[in-house]
Amino acid sequence: PVVALVFGGRSAEHVVSCATAASVLRSIDRAKFDVLPIGITAEGRWVLMADDPEPLQLTATHTPSVQGTSEVLISTDPASRGLTVREPGDVPRELGDVDVVFPLLHGPFGEDGTIQGLMELSDMRYVGSGVSASAVMMDKHLMKVVFRAAGLPVGPYVLITDKEWQRDKAACMEPVAALGRPVFVKPARAGSSVGVSRVDSQEQLEAAIEEARRFDPKVLVEAAIDGREVECGILEGRGSDLPRASRIGEITVTEGTHAFYDFESKYLDDSARLTCPADLPDAVAQEIREQSIRAFDAAGCEGLARVDWFYSPDGTLTLNEINTMPGFTPSSMYPRVWDAEGVDYQSLITELIELALH
Ligand code: DAL
Ligand code: MG
Repeated sequence: PVVALVFGGRSAEHVVSCATAASVLRSIDRAKFDVLPIGITAEGRWVLMADDPEPLQLTATHTPSVQGTSEVLISTDPASRGLTVREPGDVPRELGDVDVVFPLLHGPFGEDGTIQGLMELSDMRYVGSGVSASAVMMDKHLMKVVFRAAGLPVGPYVLITDKEWQRDKAACMEPVAALGRPVFVKPARAGSSVGVSRVDSQEQLEAAIEEARRFDPKVLVEAAIDGREVECGILEGRGSDLPRASRIGEITVTEGTHAFYDFESKYLDDSARLTCPADLPDAVAQEIREQSIRAFDAAGCEGLARVDWFYSPDGTLTLNEINTMPGFTPSSMYPRVWDAEGVDYQSLITELIELALH
């Protein structure tokens, strides 16, 4: 089958998506699949890419970008160091030649139901969740609403909409006090900790909200959860089989290096350690697996997801979020937890594509 890998895109996670694509290009089973790499520029233009992972790597010079304002990897601007069409004037094959699309896109305009909608309109098979699960799980506020309704444990938060903020900033910040300190200020629709700040004092709050608003006018302020960061991978079962949950991975960030598991510690330095399986009591690991499957199902996810939790010293679990298209970079947890389960990177990619084809 012909697999179109689509990556880059208009979100601030453009560079992460390229790093994901580089890993997939390297590992995908060439005996099984013909690969068509398609890049999306930061402006949203689709370009046929060379089948070469090398220039797509994430390096320390790459920082998350607000759309079109800083360095991106795929660009049609000849002055950029980015990549352009495979051959000038080369016309992509008709979409009809593609058997399945793997949208390796993170963040808005990719992980949020938009490309999924395009695929539905074109009657094209694709890997991962459909329109509504992608859209709702991209939005950290709507996600919590769905989880809470399903009886899943979510942490306390305050929502700040664009209109509320424009009308009365003080009134927006007032309920934040009840969350205690520190709090985490996040754009509602973003990923990889882009635009996220840890706030330890009242004076930092307004600036942190403005920073998050650079990425999304809808902002969430979340209470900090005292707990270990643990994550579970979900892989959909075939037919009526239940989704499979992986062993549990744990993230630890070297003390004193970062205020939290931020963009830099995720991708640019060695401060974050991924351990799998995490050292947890069997009953707790089992509970996380079961609850992760429940979250996947309640959200209506398909194909794959990574479910992120906090495990607190008093034994409580708090559901942080679901990622419907988790990273597949060398430093990403999703491929790591499946590897611990005996599903190596290449087999995981094959499984995901075959799930979409069946
Ligand atoms: N949002 C990033 C890619 C992740 O969840 O892995
Ligand atoms: Mg995320």
